[in-house]
Amino acid sequence: MAIFGKLRWISRSFTSLPANPLRICVVGSGPAGFYTAEKILKAHKGVEVDIVDRLPTPFGLVRSGVAPDHPETKIVINQFSRVSQNDRCSFIGNVSVGSSVSLPELRQMYNALLAYGAESDRALGIPGEELGGVYAAREFVWWYNGHPDCRNLAPDLTSTDTAVILGQGNVALDAARILLRPTVELARTDITSHALDALEESSIRKVYLVGRRGPVQAACTAKELREVLGIKDVSIHVKQADLVTTPADEVEMKNNRIRRRVYELISKAASSGPSPPLPGQRELHFVFFRKPDRFLESDDRSGHVAGVHLEETTLEGDDLGKRIAVGTGIFDDISCGLVLKSIGYKSVAIDSLPFDHYKGIVPNVGGRVLSDSTGDLPQYETGLYVCGWLKRGPTGIIATNLYCAEETVASISEDIGKGVLTSNSSKPGREGLLQLLDSRNIRVVQFDDWEKIDAEEKELGNLKNKPREKLATWEELLQVASE
Ligand SMILES: Cc1cc2nc3c(=O)[nH]c(=O)nc-3n(C[C@H](O)[C@H](O)[C@H](O)COP(=O)(O)OP(=O)(O)OC[C@H]3O[C@@H](n4cnc5c(N)ncnc54)[C@H](O)[C@@H]3O)c2cc1C
Ligand SMILES: NC(=O)c1ccc[n+]([C@@H]2O[C@H](COP(=O)([O-])OP(=O)(O)OC[C@H]3O[C@@H](n4cnc5c(N)ncnc54)[C@H](OP(=O)(O)O)[C@@H]3O)[C@@H](O)[C@H]2O)c1
Repeated sequence: MAIFGKLRWISRSFTSLPANPLRICVVGSGPAGFYTAEKILKAHKGVEVDIVDRLPTPFGLVRSGVAPDHPETKIVINQFSRVSQNDRCSFIGNVSVGSSVSLPELRQMYNALLAYGAESDRALGIPGEELGGVYAAREFVWWYNGHPDCRNLAPDLTSTDTAVILGQGNVALDAARILLRPTVELARTDITSHALDALEESSIRKVYLVGRRGPVQAACTAKELREVLGIKDVSIHVKQADLVTTPADEVEMKNNRIRRRVYELISKAASSGPSPPLPGQRELHFVFFRKPDRFLESDDRSGHVAGVHLEETTLEGDDLGKRIAVGTGIFDDISCGLVLKSIGYKSVAIDSLPFDHYKGIVPNVGGRVLSDSTGDLPQYETGLYVCGWLKRGPTGIIATNLYCAEETVASISEDIGKGVLTSNSSKPGREGLLQLLDSRNIRVVQFDDWEKIDAEEKELGNLKNKPREKLATWEELLQVASE
């Protein structure tokens, strides 16, 4: 299959392109990768763009992050698919930059644009973080969304009635919704069946969403908050005392409409009070002004979490909007058998790539990768660019990456204009990459192969009355891709 795919691509590129086109490889097929590819192809008729991804499936977090009950958000996949179908663009899946091919090797063949996202997690660095039952929200999300790296996560949802989610951003809200939403509703989505089965068996009745700051600073947005507050048969719990605002909070809300709206929604939910508990009714508790101090180990189940020890906080700092949570020395615990750390994602460095380990990003100016920023004049890596979460850090919605791509493509266009990136016969592009991968026995997955996976998933989904049943193991994905 690899060879067949290769010949097909080479013939396509030879027939439709100038003999010696400018070749750009986009690493990562999430929103940042696709938006950048789309803009480069539109702006530069003589450029060939290959989009490489370590997975056999394209679309990054649109497939493996966006919640199953948000199908409308995934419609952007249609736009990305049209980009892949452009004659001057190819998707080359199952190729990991940093292992299948090194970055220096890739740069010998192409000018490169890195958009490989943030595939690790911020750590709390507190005792007990390694206990069983403590997961990064990323892993939990990948598990229910069918990312093949987390197919076997198997979080235990049956030995406890309580889950604690640390963090109050939109990912935390997604995870809370999945844990609390009636499974009959989830069954109609593209949630994986292994996750649906586990959620159907789940004994979790209480979810605590724990924020180190107050309701004015909760990192979620109003639409997502409204959705979690509106889950059927869930009673909402908020302590009235946490809703008392300070003058600094009032100024913060005056300056930021989203913060005000979030605060108002939480206050409204608190004032309606928890409805009288019905037998088996689920509970969602918002806990504010608490930062995790350590995880508690179970006495009966060695190596497993039994709770979170939290320190009460107060906010300090003059920089409104950036006030920080400082511990008061007063502690309390929440007993639980499952913890999801939803405190932010983190990008991973790859060999030979300048990387700011503190910020977790590739240092750049307007998307041009900096090789040295210590001198008076910034030094750039020629022909190396960055976009998306790898460029800015792990925040922002899908559309944010569109603006981010515009900025990076403007830098690329300027460099093309200045002749920094020239068509170079020493950069063999796709042909060279495919030969190298072939010599390493790496089975590439091209867009047509992904379409086979897509068709199979839709067919399997059809049988279960859902939009798709995702193939969630590497073996299944590669098997169907090569049929
Ligand atoms: C759980 C979650 C839910 C979200 N829900 C929404 C939502 O509902 N609406 C919304 O607007 N935004 C949502 N977002 C935000 C949105 O998903 C991000 O803004 C966006 O996906 C970031 O795009 P990216 O291209 O930088 O990274 P990603 O989407 O992560 O894409 C990175 C790609 O790089 C690939 N890759 C990684 N390493 C390598 C490597 N070494 N070699 C080759 N390829 C590699 C990955 O497989 C992936 O395909 C959500 C985010 C998360 C985490
Ligand atoms: N439906 C959607 O549109 C959707 C869905 C999911 C994700 N997204 C987007 O994806 C991006 C990432 O979301 P995210 O939820 O991962 O990140 P996020 O919005 O940055 O939220 C991170 C949360 O973790 C907390 N936190 C960070 N470090 C902590 C620590 N050491 N201890 C305790 N708490 C800590 C933060 O609190 P502080 O505020 O105090 O730092 C915040 O509550 C966001 O831009 C989000 O909007 C969008």
